Amino acid sequence: MAQQKTRVLMVCLGNICRSPMAEGILRHKAKEQGLDIETDSAGTSHWHEGEAPDRRAIQNLRERGIDIADLRARPFHHSDFQAFDYIFAMDSSNYENILQLARDDEERSRVRMIMNLVEGNENVSVPDPYYGGEMQFQRVYDMLDEATDVFLKEISL
Ligand code: 4NP
Repeated sequence: MAQQKTRVLMVCLGNICRSPMAEGILRHKAKEQGLDIETDSAGTSHWHEGEAPDRRAIQNLRERGIDIADLRARPFHHSDFQAFDYIFAMDSSNYENILQLARDDEERSRVRMIMNLVEGNENVSVPDPYYGGEMQFQRVYDMLDEATDVFLKEISL
């Protein structure tokens, strides 16, 4: 029997900085490793709906050979609880906002803070880089690079 596709949704506030970076990094690694993973991202706000990722996010990943220019922002919907096996929140306010939309424990159980993948990183948030500079985007990259490595190991076990 064919292995079932793992479906992963990355969520932040605007869906133009952290979550498209997380999606792009995971999509890139899954392709490299030949893993059948469906990736998507969404925002808890609709502020940037339809927009491409922030140019600083695109540039940061382009330097590593990862292209996210094709991604477009969209808001998180309740239907995402059924459409995805794993829903990763970038920070604690994203986490709370997603949980508020969950209707039962099964839906709640799909939601995790992404840095909780990394041992010892209890409820650490990926800091919002929107009002920051290159250094903040670099920090986001480093955190998400580590978390996505752990995730891929976890699902390959
Ligand atoms: P993100 O960053 O949640 O990582 O996409 C932000 C993008 C836009 C805004 C805030 C955070 N904003 O206030 O418009």
